[in-house]
Amino acid sequence: MKKLYFGSNLKMYKGIQDTEKYLKKLEENTKNINREEMELFIIPSYTSLPEAVSCCDSQMIKLGAQNMCWEDQGQFTGEISPCMLEELGIKLVMIGHSERRHVFGESDIEENRKVKSALRHGIRPLLCIGETAEEKKYGISGEILRQQLKIGFYEIDPEECKNIWVAYEPVWSIGVNGTPATAEYVQKMHMEIKKALREIFGDNAEQIPVLYGGSVNPGNADQLILQPAIDGLFVGRAAWDADAFDKLIRQAIHTYKRNKNY
Ligand code: 13P
Repeated sequence: MKKLYFGSNLKMYKGIQDTEKYLKKLEENTKNINREEMELFIIPSYTSLPEAVSCCDSQMIKLGAQNMCWEDQGQFTGEISPCMLEELGIKLVMIGHSERRHVFGESDIEENRKVKSALRHGIRPLLCIGETAEEKKYGISGEILRQQLKIGFYEIDPEECKNIWVAYEPVWSIGVNGTPATAEYVQKMHMEIKKALREIFGDNAEQIPVLYGGSVNPGNADQLILQPAIDGLFVGRAAWDADAFDKLIRQAIHTYKRNKNY
């Protein structure tokens, strides 16, 4: 079966102790889920990263950073360098999360600089893209996603596809005020994304998993994971309790296997 991806962005929640507790519990809970079938990743706060790295097995749970600067060093007060992430052994970085773009005003050109820098440092970029409610209303979601991908991956060698992940997170579907997208809508958008990736990278684009995020919960995870163009789920709130996340993952894998006759 194809590998399914499950991950969570802890956003600005959980300090060092809570992150450690959460990771230990999640690792214990999920230890008998075959990692050949599932990739599990957690993206905690920066301050928790050193403890997170030492408390969990990277074969079981991959750890990522929520953002990074494109420069290695310099006069960039408040930023985190890719070299600092490398020093911690971090091999995954989220780039262009909706909150970075819309609360902190990041642009596609900045995301492209970050993607290039991450790849240069051997850190896997997880590029997040998604349209706003307004863009959806005007019927330009496909165009927006295509633009975010074309700029975000500008001048990236197709050979790098094996080191890239993409998450589709429509802005209107994220967080406490978000409306979950229907599985059919996500499937349609993932098809657009995969088409754009193919245009950018050619056949190598097949290697890029495309994850969905935005109000994923136990009530919609099964329908989402069954969509052929959805390779995994990137979960916020519904994953911040280790027991609940373990349950959601098991249920989704079970549904996937039953429906695909594995
Ligand atoms: P929610 O699942 O809480 O909507 O958050 C999704 C998200 O932003 C993942 O990056």
